[in-house]
Amino acid sequence: MSKKRIVTGDRPTGRLHIGHYFGSLKSRVEMQEKGEYEPYILVADVQALTDNFNNPEKVRNNVREVVMDYLSIGIDPKKTTIYIQSLIPETAELTVFYSNLVTIARLERNPTVKTEIAQKRDLFGESVTYGFLGYPVSQAADITAMDGTLIPVGEDQLPLIEQCREIVRKFNSIYGEVLKEPEAVLSEGKRIKGLDGNEKMGKSLGNAIYLSDPEEVVNKKVMSAKTDPNRIKKDDLGNPDICMVYYYHKLFSTDEECKAVCKECKEGKRGCVACKKQLAKNINSTLEPIREKRKYYEERPELIDDILKKGTEKARKTAKETMKKVKKAMMLDYFE
Ligand code: TRP
Repeated sequence: MSKKRIVTGDRPTGRLHIGHYFGSLKSRVEMQEKGEYEPYILVADVQALTDNFNNPEKVRNNVREVVMDYLSIGIDPKKTTIYIQSLIPETAELTVFYSNLVTIARLERNPTVKTEIAQKRDLFGESVTYGFLGYPVSQAADITAMDGTLIPVGEDQLPLIEQCREIVRKFNSIYGEVLKEPEAVLSEGKRIKGLDGNEKMGKSLGNAIYLSDPEEVVNKKVMSAKTDPNRIKKDDLGNPDICMVYYYHKLFSTDEECKAVCKECKEGKRGCVACKKQLAKNINSTLEPIREKRKYYEERPELIDDILKKGTEKARKTAKETMKKVKKAMMLDYFE
């Protein structure tokens, strides 16, 4: 039996942080290691341009950064195909074909797109671009070009997969059963909060710890983490449940350490500075092997090129096969 193909990806707009790690990267590595799937990861540069069209350097520079982050956390190019979206022109072609199968009103109602447009008022003002509004169509092209079966996503991305399924059904009902309807799998990861307690960790929010942050930077960031505001002196009784330091202890420290942190904080026996130092040490020991692996690739850019070239070549082959079937079904197979 053939392995189920997984398609995931990220917009290359910045280095990846521990929010990405707990949210999706960790589970991608776990799925890769199960050996039951055939994972594809695309570096979504075309999609990144939909809200960074005025900043191509940013997108370009982050392609490598994101790939180095993948490799440093254990994505293994022998098991996972990593490729660049813009190097699969079939995706762009499919996007054009699919755009007849989706209405503007439906795109405007897509909750993911709606939320993002609201967040991007600075860029779009009163009227959003055709490209941004249509990115779910392009994402449907990414998925179907690769014959994706399972799409692990966070809750916020579910409407994109639903939109893709609708496009597939519509395509198949008009042109014949050609495309595979993908299934969303809710990622096992969890969304983690930022250093300031914000629900989301994000680059633009300035509250993230990056996988590639050096030790001193991690130490400094942890020192700035939000703690119980009512705790001023060491012997004030603290509430760990509203403290970001305790929140991260639960992610990076042992159960025993967490129990001690919680108890001593509540009893006013633990100072915040000592508690932060202990946390920073644990985060650093988790990040150390990741940093080392990253350094290896940073010193060997030709390896990154090679991985991307091979991955893209493999992905392109799959996309060409899909394209052939699609064109035949749509009666666009002239001279074949
Ligand atoms: N939408 C994803 C993000 O915001 C990136 C992406 C593009 C993607 N194409 C995809 C994810 C196909 C899964 C499948 O980062």
